[in-house]
Amino acid sequence: MIKTLKRLGAYMGGRSLLLPCSIGLSALHGLLSLVPFIFLWLVVRTLLTSEGNLSDTPLWDYALAALAISIVNVLLYFAVLMLSHLAAFRVETNMRRRAMERLMRAPLGFFDTQNTGRMRKIIDEDSAQTHTFVAHILPDVAGSIVAPLGVILLLFVVDWQLGLAAMMPMVCAFGIMGYMMNPNNNDFQRMYLDAQEKMSAEAVEYVRGIPVVKVFQQTVFSFKRFYDSIINYRDLVIKYTLLWRTPMSAYLVAVNAFAFFLVPTGILLMGHGSQPTLVIADLFLYVVIAPMISGNIMKVMHLSQNLFMANEAVERLETLTSTLPLPESASPATPKTFDIRLRDVSFRYEGAEKDAVSHIDLVIPEGKTVALVGASGSGKTTIARLIPRFWDVRKGSVSIGGTDVRQMDKGELMRNVSFVFQNTHLFKTTLLENLRYGHPEATIEEVNRAIDLSQSREIIDRLPEGLNTVIGAEGTYLSGGEQQRIVLARAILKDAPIVVLDEATAFADPENEHLIRQALSHLTRGKTVLMIAHRLTTVRDADNIVVVDGGRIAEQGTHDQLMAKEALYYHMWNEYRKAVAWKL
Ligand SMILES: Nc1ncnc2c1ncn2[C@@H]1O[C@H](COP(=O)(O)OP(=O)(O)OP(=O)(O)O)[C@@H](O)[C@H]1O
Ligand SMILES: [Mg+2]
Repeated sequence: MIKTLKRLGAYMGGRSLLLPCSIGLSALHGLLSLVPFIFLWLVVRTLLTSEGNLSDTPLWDYALAALAISIVNVLLYFAVLMLSHLAAFRVETNMRRRAMERLMRAPLGFFDTQNTGRMRKIIDEDSAQTHTFVAHILPDVAGSIVAPLGVILLLFVVDWQLGLAAMMPMVCAFGIMGYMMNPNNNDFQRMYLDAQEKMSAEAVEYVRGIPVVKVFQQTVFSFKRFYDSIINYRDLVIKYTLLWRTPMSAYLVAVNAFAFFLVPTGILLMGHGSQPTLVIADLFLYVVIAPMISGNIMKVMHLSQNLFMANEAVERLETLTSTLPLPESASPATPKTFDIRLRDVSFRYEGAEKDAVSHIDLVIPEGKTVALVGASGSGKTTIARLIPRFWDVRKGSVSIGGTDVRQMDKGELMRNVSFVFQNTHLFKTTLLENLRYGHPEATIEEVNRAIDLSQSREIIDRLPEGLNTVIGAEGTYLSGGEQQRIVLARAILKDAPIVVLDEATAFADPENEHLIRQALSHLTRGKTVLMIAHRLTTVRDADNIVVVDGGRIAEQGTHDQLMAKEALYYHMWNEYRKAVAWKL
């Protein structure tokens, strides 16, 4: 509890007093909520003992006092909620802000390994989870603890014998509650959450797979796992419910049984000389206020569940954002030229057993084009991503114009490198904004030029609102090949001296292929280029072709040199030709 509060407190910023104030006022509210009942009790006593002569009694004063305090208390609760909501929104906002700040500084490669849906859920929904806890549960709990204590005190002060009678079943109820709250149930809660998560994951998997499943007519098999997760969830819930059935029934019986001892005790008291009217007035008070204990205890019981969820939310968010940013150089150096050199570079993905690429020596002279080819999984994308510093190398160095990329200012590195990767993303905003992304001050003439060079003119002409069409909005989806051309237009507009291209596997449609090749030739003209091409025809004219095999460079040279060698590239080329012939 304290730990969670401290954790949440860290997100309060300078307003750390909001929550304690809210909690303090809520406790006061809990106490004050009892006072009108005391006045009501006095009213009842007065009525019962006045013997018809009401004019001399302070009946009206009591009634008005009860009303006034009730009104004050409503206002007080309003203040409690106001303060706690201010605190809750602050925590929520700061959690999101801090997460975003940390994510902005995370290495680019980090985003490859994260499921974006999960990231969104954690930043958005989990931080919202804390809202209920801070805005409602915490202040309510303060009142819910203080009010029952006040009730118990009152029960004993008014008449200790009646108090004892009313408290007896309550003590039983507390015992049962203690049993129900045992720590094993927390395991259950985690199992419950896990089962829920698994079921939703399987559901997503199932729905995603439907097209594939239909094609291969495998409905039964794919449904099986989803079905199993549902059954697992059902069994768990039933077990959970059954586990609670007996203690919960016992608790409810005990907690509502206060009148069971109360009435006989009252009768006994009357028999032993107490004034019957006063005993009846007391009984009235007890019957009215004793249930407040159980009602409030239920609220406190829910605390543990909400505490658990708030804690999990903060935990997940902090784990997500715990990836350290790449170190930045204190005195960044600016390269004057743009030749790229990889010197004995090895790199290993986090958690992997062996290097994804090792001992890579590679030079891309300024203004030249080097192509990487090789089998799937050989390490081409990995090498390409080390240049814009998606990750830092494990051994060796990557340098631009003789300056190690680790010594460069991050913004400068980003400005100097355009990268177009296998699954580059278009934002769900206007096409114009998408294009200007890499060069926000570009004039409309420059934008139009980039559109023409990337052969995207006809795509734009076809869209209902031209450049102002929002991509991804109703009916304005672009095909894979069209998206690729827009992404190339964006890179052309950015006009960075270095271009790293990781071409999407294949847009087999020859029309699109032709257009993309034209766009590529405009993008790469006069630039220092590293390109990964899956169509060997695109690679043919590169100044140097590097064949990657199992994370190492197997051979390199021009197309003619490599063909003459009759080694790896030669075989790849023959295979490729056969495949193309087969396709046509
Ligand atoms: N984010 C990652 N985490 C861990 N391992 C990875 C990650 N990305 C790639 N790998 C591994 O690194 C190796 C090289 O992958 P890479 O993506 O560089 O291959 P590639 O040559 O680009 O393949 P393709 O032609 O299919 O695009 C593979 O064994 C792959 O499983
Ligand atoms: Mg790749």
